[in-house]
Amino acid sequence: PAATDYQAEDAALSQATVATNHTGYTGTGFVDYVNVTGSSIEWTVSAATAGASALTLRYANGTTINRPMDISVNGNVVANDLAFGGTGSWDTWQTATVNADLAAGSNKIRATATTDNGGPNVDRLSVSAHGDTERPTV
Ligand code: GCU
Repeated sequence: PAATDYQAEDAALSQATVATNHTGYTGTGFVDYVNVTGSSIEWTVSAATAGASALTLRYANGTTINRPMDISVNGNVVANDLAFGGTGSWDTWQTATVNADLAAGSNKIRATATTDNGGPNVDRLSVSAHGDTERPTV
């Protein structure tokens, strides 16, 4: 199934910075959240038509503590405290997927840390084609 990748390092960052100090990322780097509640990444994603898509975040968490984030689409939370558990090391990446409706045209997809640990390191967001909520191959 077709999916479009949106690199985290190209998104709008709040209390988060682009980093390259771990291996295995795609694109030119990844995003390291500041360790505070409310730090966020916001992607602008375009959808040809309105409908459900699978939103897949590729992340690393080298701790053993969950780093949950709220996922919102155009300001509406579509996943509360989505879990981003430990991946074994900061060089080991896994994915978390949520299905959500996108509007036709431009959409703002935001991942906001909900604990004082901040978010995990995030490599990219993959958005499946409209109507295809199957998890993309990553
Ligand atoms: C380490 C790691 C960072 C990570 C940070 C964190 O410093 O090198 O990549 O973002 O821990 O706890 O968030």
